[in-house]
Amino acid sequence: MNASIGSTAAAPADNATRPASEGVDPRLAGRALKRVAFSEREIADRVAALGREITAAYPDGELLVLGLLKGSFIFLSDLVREIARPLHVDFLVASSYGNDTVSSGIVRLLYDPETELAGKHILLVEDIVDSGRTLQRLVELLRERGPRSLEICALLHKHIATHLSHPVKFVGFDAPEEFLVGYGLDHAEDFRHVPYVASLQ
Ligand code: IMP
Ligand code: MG
Repeated sequence: MNASIGSTAAAPADNATRPASEGVDPRLAGRALKRVAFSEREIADRVAALGREITAAYPDGELLVLGLLKGSFIFLSDLVREIARPLHVDFLVASSYGNDTVSSGIVRLLYDPETELAGKHILLVEDIVDSGRTLQRLVELLRERGPRSLEICALLHKHIATHLSHPVKFVGFDAPEEFLVGYGLDHAEDFRHVPYVASLQ
């Protein structure tokens, strides 16, 4: 994995060794970090291990890696480069209806993958599993299309999902019960480009 992607001269090389209070990261627009939950180095190591697990789990057949936008975009781009077998990539854009703060459980696909799913191994890639509501509906929708297999890979899992009947087969990290940003995760669209995962003050 190319650890230099996303790094600048001003950014710490590895945030694991650096308390959040010490560094002023210009990406944060003045917001203070509470703590770095997972450093760039920790993420890179874990993503490489996940890539090896996924490679071993699919000895044959066509593999389609489906990233759920926007949150999975950085994780997915690092992950697919660690999977040492042929694969195709597509994306899903889903929207949940209802009140802004409480997910309604009604999910509509705003972008539907153009590729045929029937007969293929589908690996759905998500940034973080929280309630699991969106993922549950997506799994139901995708299953109707007759894939050979359907599994979920999430960078982070809060393990509080009460709406998910389908287990998440590949998990990067067990997430603390904090609101996390970075490495694709946002707060009101900010911080997606932060190369580590952190909680805010
Ligand atoms: P769920 O449907 O409740 O599992 O919500 C999953 C989605 O909520 C994720 O794909 C994220 O976009 C968002 N989300 C949940 N927890 C966090 C967090 O800690 N930080 C940023 N986004 C989050
Ligand atoms: Mg989000």
